[in-house]
Amino acid sequence: MSRRCMPSCLVLALFCLVASGCDWHLPGKPVRPIAEKLDSRADFERLYFVNCLGCHGPDGRTGPARPLNDPLYLASIPTATLEAVIHSGHGPLMPGFGEAPSGGLDEPQIAALAAGMKHFWGDPSIDSGTLPPYAQPAEADPVAGQAVFSTVCASCHGADGSGLEGMAGSVVDNDYLLLVSDQALRSTVLFGRTDLMTPKMPGGCPGYRGPFEGQPSDRVLTDREIADVTAWLVSNRSSYAREGAR
Ligand code: HEC
Ligand code: HEC
Repeated sequence: MSRRCMPSCLVLALFCLVASGCDWHLPGKPVRPIAEKLDSRADFERLYFVNCLGCHGPDGRTGPARPLNDPLYLASIPTATLEAVIHSGHGPLMPGFGEAPSGGLDEPQIAALAAGMKHFWGDPSIDSGTLPPYAQPAEADPVAGQAVFSTVCASCHGADGSGLEGMAGSVVDNDYLLLVSDQALRSTVLFGRTDLMTPKMPGGCPGYRGPFEGQPSDRVLTDREIADVTAWLVSNRSSYAREGAR
């Protein structure tokens, strides 16, 4: 290579690097806005890959955080709420992508991600009006919730929620409750955690539609029961802990 060519070759190499999109960021690490068209599945998947996959798993499931690739969940969460979660984060553990310091996504990208999740992973035939509401109502009774828990959850989590050997773990452990938001608990009551399967429980944690051991196969939790059992889970957080965990 001649000396004269060197600088322009370097510039060319740098240009190629930049033009290639630099997509070697660790998944989950927010990056500055990616300038691109957001109208195809590939664009959606790229945004998801760079920003969300590290925690929510490839194709929206089997990551450490809740599965997002769930048509019932996606029909339930309002689009504006989904956008707000991506913008501002959720609970103690999920960062916000629309604001400093993590940042990384501008409003059109956040809207494209939310729309892409609903479009590519959702099922438009599900009428959200037939599902229990996504948000926890203001009125709920933790004492009634404890009774619901002992009827439909105790067979796996133990009567007091502290777990059953060889079945499912504790849902009343304060260290756990400190790490999750109230809505995360409600979302689990609503749509389960089918990703958290164990050899004994290949279905993981069932959602509000069951199945629940010892109950009729068509047993479905009512809106009231969902609210009450969520309130009971939340009530197990110590009052000191609650301040930090909202
Ligand atoms: C650093 C890990 C991490 C990253 C990255 C991340 N999330 Fe999350 N996400 C979580 C955790 C943990 C929760 C549960 C938080 C809680 O509510 O306690 C969560 C919750 C959510 C929820 C709400 C779930 C509910 O209960 O309704 C949505 C929606 C969501 N994430 C979407 C996304 C999207 C979209 C991205 C990418 C832009 C993303 N997340 C990136 C960890 C992450
Ligand atoms: C068929 C058994 C089974 C039943 C019934 C069941 N769960 Fe679970 N649940 C699991 C398994 C398995 C896990 C994941 C492994 C673990 O946490 O030990 C889990 C995990 C959870 C978690 C933790 C999710 C996380 O953030 O990691 C919560 C909260 C929970 N269950 C609440 C409930 C409630 C409330 C009910 C009753 C409405 C219920 N479960 C009924 C099996 C069950």
